[in-house]
Amino acid sequence: MASQKHYNFLFIDDDRDILRELEGIARNNRWTCLSLSGGGEALEVLDNYRFDAVVVELSLPGFSGLQILEWMRTQPHQAEVIIITAKASVDSAVKALKMGAFDYLTKPFETVEKADFCLHQALEKHELLKRMQQFQVPGQSAEEFENIIGKSPKMQGVYEMIRHVSASHSNVLILGESGTGKELVASIIHKTGPRHSKPFVVINCSAMPETLLESELFGHTKGSFTGAVVDKAGLFETADGGTVFLDEIGEVPPSVQVKLLRVLQEGEIRPIGAVNSRHVDVRVIAASNKDLLEQTRIGKFREDLYYRLNVIAVLLPPLKDRAEDIPPLAYHFLKVFAKKMHKETGKLSIDVLQALQNYPWPGNVRELENVVERAVVLATGETITAKNLPPRILSASFYAPPDRDNDLSKLDYKEAKKRALNIFNRSYIIKLLEKTGGNITAASEKAGMDRSNFKKIIRKYRVETKTDE
Ligand SMILES: Nc1ncnc2c1ncn2[C@@H]1O[C@H](COP(=O)(O)OP(=O)(O)OP(=O)(O)O)[C@@H](O)[C@H]1O
Ligand SMILES: [Mg+2]
Repeated sequence: MASQKHYNFLFIDDDRDILRELEGIARNNRWTCLSLSGGGEALEVLDNYRFDAVVVELSLPGFSGLQILEWMRTQPHQAEVIIITAKASVDSAVKALKMGAFDYLTKPFETVEKADFCLHQALEKHELLKRMQQFQVPGQSAEEFENIIGKSPKMQGVYEMIRHVSASHSNVLILGESGTGKELVASIIHKTGPRHSKPFVVINCSAMPETLLESELFGHTKGSFTGAVVDKAGLFETADGGTVFLDEIGEVPPSVQVKLLRVLQEGEIRPIGAVNSRHVDVRVIAASNKDLLEQTRIGKFREDLYYRLNVIAVLLPPLKDRAEDIPPLAYHFLKVFAKKMHKETGKLSIDVLQALQNYPWPGNVRELENVVERAVVLATGETITAKNLPPRILSASFYAPPDRDNDLSKLDYKEAKKRALNIFNRSYIIKLLEKTGGNITAASEKAGMDRSNFKKIIRKYRVETKTDE
């Protein structure tokens, strides 16, 4: 835990009482601290000494907290910065979060425990970042993680994040398109982390109406609403000591966002209808396939909640950006489904591999998983062939997306002829291959061409489309 190591704090405030409270927290945790009352002298001290975290009042006379933060961001050894602000200027505190501050505390402090908790969290993030900076050689394989496939450089980056993140208790935000493996990564972070023996509880926040979501998350007492016939514990209580995975966090309605913020800030929940709050110790991993920052900008998602969740962000790359992972993933799913369906199918034909790698996979790994499952159902022999794939995969493999603008009269004769020939080639070959289930030999026979010439046309077409894009 952060409190067992030796840490250095800098406290800057012109309010003596606040400084005394902060010094008390530092003393209790056996941290070293230096207290200053002005921003000007702080810069000099920061220039000469290294701190793990700095707690600074936003509106100091002379150098403001924001100016200090701005200056610190230009320095190589960054301490975590916590802003102190009066309730009235919370807006500027949010500005500070955007500039890279870790968090803010409103003064007077509600409770010393809350301030203490915030300081610990800042140290934990600082430790994590330090460890990540030390990490030099990226791992070559992901064998240490079960069930996650892919050795592309992009996935190596993800594994590196998982390794560092799972060792901590920090909240994590996983961002990625639908089907990129957000839930899988969340479960790996939990399983390989210190809470692995405690529950991992998943909730999809988009799948239920507001009151139900609130009751699922925080529980309710008997009689608190129609239908609440018994006391029911919420998922946060069920997950106590473990991890809650909040999927589709961007869909959480504002009233529930406020309550989530309370859990994250104070570790407290209050079931619907209950008089008292209960303490819970839960790590939160949230996921979204939306641009959450954009959601905060348009007022759909609370900024303060965003920053609490986004202590560490893990970005999952779309499958099309790591095409080298497609064959191993396809073989992995092939093995899984063949075993499940008691089939001998264990190979993918070259055409299939080619088709899979050329398709853009808008539904990412989940879509690939479904395509392989379907192919195993349809396969009759040892090998999956192109006719076991859905037409959309074959069309995308051999042909480019259709031209959006077909008005050839806009072009000069030569260009128009080239375009028309492309369109003809495309639709002719698409139709032939669809008819033959992707079998190139059969399609070339139908076209009255030999296979290699037919393949040349396919290739030529593909080269042309690449330069057309
Ligand atoms: N790298 C991977 N290796 C093996 N399986 C994977 C990988 N990535 C995803 N999967 C599998 O693909 C499916 C989709 O993954 P998951 O549910 O984690 O995605 P998601 O990002 O949460 O999707 P959604 O946004 O649709 O909820 C799951 O069955 C998961 O096990
Ligand atoms: Mg999911």
